[in-house]
Amino acid sequence: MTQNSSPIANEHIGSKINMILNKMTLEQKFRILTSHGLHRFYSTRPIENLGINSFKMPDGPLGVAYHSSWKKNTRFPTTKALAASWNRSLAMAVGVAIAEEVRALNKHMILAPAVNIDRTPLNGRTFEYYSEDPFLTKEMAIQFVKGVQSLGVGACVKHFVANNQETNRRKVDAIIDERTLHEIYLRAFKEIIIHSEPYAVMACYNKVNGIYGCAHRELIRETLMQKWGFKGMVISDWFATSNVKSTADCVNAGLTLEMPWPKRYKTKNLKQSFANGEFSEALLDDLVRRNLRVFYLTGAIGNVKNLPSGSRNTPEHQKLARHVAEEGIVLLKNDGNLLPLDTGSIDSIHLDGPNLKKKFGKFLYGGSSAVVPPYEITPYDALARRLKDKVRIVKNPSNADISVIFAGLNHSLGMDSENRDRKTLKLPDKQIRLIYDTLDVNPNTIVVLISGSPITMNGWLERTPAILQAWYPGMEGGNAIANILFGEVSPSGKLPITFPMNIIDSPAHALDSPRTYPGDENNRVFYEEGILIGYRWFDAKGIMPLFPFGFGLSYTEFEIVDAFADKVSYDQESFIVNVNVRNTGQANGAEVIQLYSHQLEPTVPRPPNELVGFEKCPLAPDESVNLKIGINIQDLGYYDVDSHAWIVDRGQYELSVGNSSRNFIRTVQIEL
Ligand code: BGC
Repeated sequence: MTQNSSPIANEHIGSKINMILNKMTLEQKFRILTSHGLHRFYSTRPIENLGINSFKMPDGPLGVAYHSSWKKNTRFPTTKALAASWNRSLAMAVGVAIAEEVRALNKHMILAPAVNIDRTPLNGRTFEYYSEDPFLTKEMAIQFVKGVQSLGVGACVKHFVANNQETNRRKVDAIIDERTLHEIYLRAFKEIIIHSEPYAVMACYNKVNGIYGCAHRELIRETLMQKWGFKGMVISDWFATSNVKSTADCVNAGLTLEMPWPKRYKTKNLKQSFANGEFSEALLDDLVRRNLRVFYLTGAIGNVKNLPSGSRNTPEHQKLARHVAEEGIVLLKNDGNLLPLDTGSIDSIHLDGPNLKKKFGKFLYGGSSAVVPPYEITPYDALARRLKDKVRIVKNPSNADISVIFAGLNHSLGMDSENRDRKTLKLPDKQIRLIYDTLDVNPNTIVVLISGSPITMNGWLERTPAILQAWYPGMEGGNAIANILFGEVSPSGKLPITFPMNIIDSPAHALDSPRTYPGDENNRVFYEEGILIGYRWFDAKGIMPLFPFGFGLSYTEFEIVDAFADKVSYDQESFIVNVNVRNTGQANGAEVIQLYSHQLEPTVPRPPNELVGFEKCPLAPDESVNLKIGINIQDLGYYDVDSHAWIVDRGQYELSVGNSSRNFIRTVQIEL
């Protein structure tokens, strides 16, 4: 079985579906395009006499969300933490584990992964998304989808497309030029569709260039289905059809399932529109077939006995949650090697901050991704257990050898939360005051940031010797943070998003105009920065970020000894860059080697550097490795508006090898 194929045999699926379709009345075909009606928000109506069971799709992406299962399930670290691990195998493992939980609940599809590109760091859902970079996003999400679907559970890639802010998300109209749309915002969707064949895509709330996502024929029918060959379902985001005027527009666009209840797809509306000749029966059959195929692959039709039974809340899932949290934590600063701490050399520690004892896994907390776990280890829980009888926890920072402040955000509206964007990148004033007050009496102060999006640190950064970015680390988060603080694990996370010094440095905010964010008087947001998103913008404009994309320190040191490519010719689809890396420090650790491409004589304007490859390597002290980083030639290309396709120019390229987007150690020249 390949990782992305359902355990249910695919061979007879076409004829099986045709058999069901032939028996369906027109009315039954209409009914299969929508949900129950009131109160059952995450499933479709069964059609018993045809053997079609209710298709059930709980919310993700942090695990199986509570409001859509009424069960406590494993809460994994937030998507940003997974992305910060830069570890593809962890993305697959999390996909498998979530699918096991979905199967154990007798459900069929998880509403994940969420792959929108970080256009603005103020986006309230930044924590749910992978990255500002389409390459990192697709590399991780492809593995996640393969993992999920290896168990016969569907993955639903969302939100298609350009749902890049929460402010006014149901009305906003993203005005994007063709190249930017394809090169930045559609790219991850396309690659995920081609390489992992997800069973569903969720259409967004917003408009794209004047048309709502659920009625966007050019995007759904022509691009997703016809150009990319997508065979799955297209489901509306919840209530996203509310603002769409016409039933036929949704049908003709290719929307196969309206959620969470019938509106445009009320039987009476569909009947009327069909009677008016606004869509053909062949088109209707195509939508129905797409749904039936996924129902069949996931066991909502046919014999579920062929699917694994699944498991929930196992020690393995909890261990995986901790592991992801550990690999995702980013060490931003560590002056004088204050970290790691050693219980043998400190007598007292002061612990403080709003996130020290905070639990995040609560009902709808942060929106639709809220997973409520059976237990949640806070930093305080983990540290109190670890330090018992060894180090005193004291109330007054001036009496302590070390102080650790657990600062950051939470999932309240206006912080890291669905439905509302953040207003500022700053920490709340009270937290800034706490950091300064603590530093005034104890210079050995460490700040641990628990947040899902960037934070600015003007003023307090200079005075704080050590800073960790822990994201929302999931139900085992406290243990993961304690393991990092005390050096059991060396930090190996790298930022999947640029941390700007000030919001105005960020591409969507540079003009400081509502036109580019959050929208003009007609709710239009003009993506005037074009393809220069994230580090592409900071590099092109020569703006110094607070912490660059791809950045993260370790407790050990790595040397990139050399880097060289195989000889390449244009005909090859891929080539290998060899990078020899050595751990020259004293501790075990892992480095993420990153490759950025720069075309020497581009025929169209291109960003200075673009991520095209990476590999994570764990190394013991003195250990070396020859990393073979595969580069796909297609990833060196750009979207050409004349041919409306991706192309790769012949010529010279420079590949920079380093451990962040701003620290290149070697370069490799290649000619295509
Ligand atoms: C969110 C989706 C989610 C859906 C169902 C919407 O508000 O945008 O991500 O899957 O609700 O809960």
